[in-house]
Amino acid sequence: TRVAILISGGGSNMVRLVQDMTGDHPARPVLVASNDPEAGGLKRAADLGVATAAVDHRDFPRDREGFEAALLEPLLAARPDIICLAGFMRILTPGFVQRFAGRMINIHPSLLPKYPGLHTHARAIAAGDAQAGCTVHLVTPELDAGPLLGQARVPILPGDDADALAARVLVQEHRLYPAVLRRFAAGDRTPVMFPR
Ligand code: GRF
Repeated sequence: TRVAILISGGGSNMVRLVQDMTGDHPARPVLVASNDPEAGGLKRAADLGVATAAVDHRDFPRDREGFEAALLEPLLAARPDIICLAGFMRILTPGFVQRFAGRMINIHPSLLPKYPGLHTHARAIAAGDAQAGCTVHLVTPELDAGPLLGQARVPILPGDDADALAARVLVQEHRLYPAVLRRFAAGDRTPVMFPR
């Protein structure tokens, strides 16, 4: 099973996914692509021996379709079976999403359906929630709304600010996403729930 991973920044989730795709894992990484040529994750991917590509979304102002057409070139050339969005910060058009319907997944740093979109940790703290976490879901045209493939919970502690909570959640993202991809690549869509 061929996996392409889309990133926008440091790619810490991508690194964990790549590092997990060894041995008896049914999948292998075939491409890491970014909308930012300066994304730190591109170097990390290359250091891990994975092919990389970058299409700068700033080259396509007010032309989302043009950006996606450019991104599709290296992406389709890699012949991916599964696409993982990992810290990918661009909204994809329904047309792009439909091309990969049922085989594109994303990790979002909240307990969806709570807090789709941005600034998830600040919103959970402001709401006085006792828990926060991350969710892996199938990507559908509606933002952060597809069927759940995994979820990990963490406590929100007294004195937490967004950065402290983000750091606690990120540790769980790095556990959850590889666990979900292993199942998903094996054709198993039973949700992965942490803690069990
Ligand atoms: C992190 O905030 C993470 O919660 C979210 O995307 C951001 C960057 O992730 N998934 P990564 O380090 O680039 O994987």
